[in-house]
Amino acid sequence: MPRHVASRATGGGSRNAIPSPLPGMLHPIHSLIESRAATLHYDPARELSEQQIMELVRLATCAPSAYNLQNWRFIAVRSREAKARLKAAAFGQQKVGEAAVTFIICGRLNTHDELPHLLRPAVEAAILPDPVARDWVAMAERDYRDNLPLQRDEAIRSASLAAMTLMLAAQGMGLSTTPLGGFDGEVVSRQFGLTDNELPVILVCVGYGSVGNLPQKPRRALDDVMSYA
Ligand SMILES: Cc1cc2nc3c(=O)[nH]c(=O)nc-3n(C[C@H](O)[C@H](O)[C@H](O)COP(=O)(O)O)c2cc1C
Repeated sequence: MPRHVASRATGGGSRNAIPSPLPGMLHPIHSLIESRAATLHYDPARELSEQQIMELVRLATCAPSAYNLQNWRFIAVRSREAKARLKAAAFGQQKVGEAAVTFIICGRLNTHDELPHLLRPAVEAAILPDPVARDWVAMAERDYRDNLPLQRDEAIRSASLAAMTLMLAAQGMGLSTTPLGGFDGEVVSRQFGLTDNELPVILVCVGYGSVGNLPQKPRRALDDVMSYA
């Protein structure tokens, strides 16, 4: 039996009363999605290598963003001293001190100014036709210029998608994660030198889980959360 089939039978997803996937729809990503859970306790003795940290961020940046703005930034908080500062900003949450790394995932404002430069590699690789890239630059300029609320929405969307991608990438590397919204954004910005154009959107702890962690919790029934139109 493939690993993902076995884990479906024993993992978090089986408790959630969601129908089995359709034939032909099983894929290893499904078991990663179902086995991820918000980790409560980490083994503080186990660190991540720089290579692991960089691979996590590289995979996180495969997330999509509007016009491929890539309006995000990642701060990997891993030194004891920096963890203590971040833990204080996260209202003393123990995980920040224990996890090998906690990423401050920032969304960036005003990145539409960089779009001509950002789209060039896609044009040079013949992925995006040059006229399309020019249209995107004009559309992004029209959408975002002088529209701070939309820039903020976009920053939060992009950073959130990157955070989820990072968590699934970590799960695929045998690591455990916790998303954290419980932090003081102003303190994080000040302590970690964020610019006025950067929002600390979410923290993501990554490391090796220790004992006492919970499986993924049951979810609302599909009827509660979806409809067809
Ligand atoms: C935006 C967001 C903010 C969260 N903030 C915290 C937090 O500050 N502290 C914490 O322990 N867990 C936090 N969590 C984790 C949630 O409590 C957890 O994802 C939820 O209970 C579902 O658990 P499960 O994913 O393990 O099933 C947060 C999750 C999200 C998505």
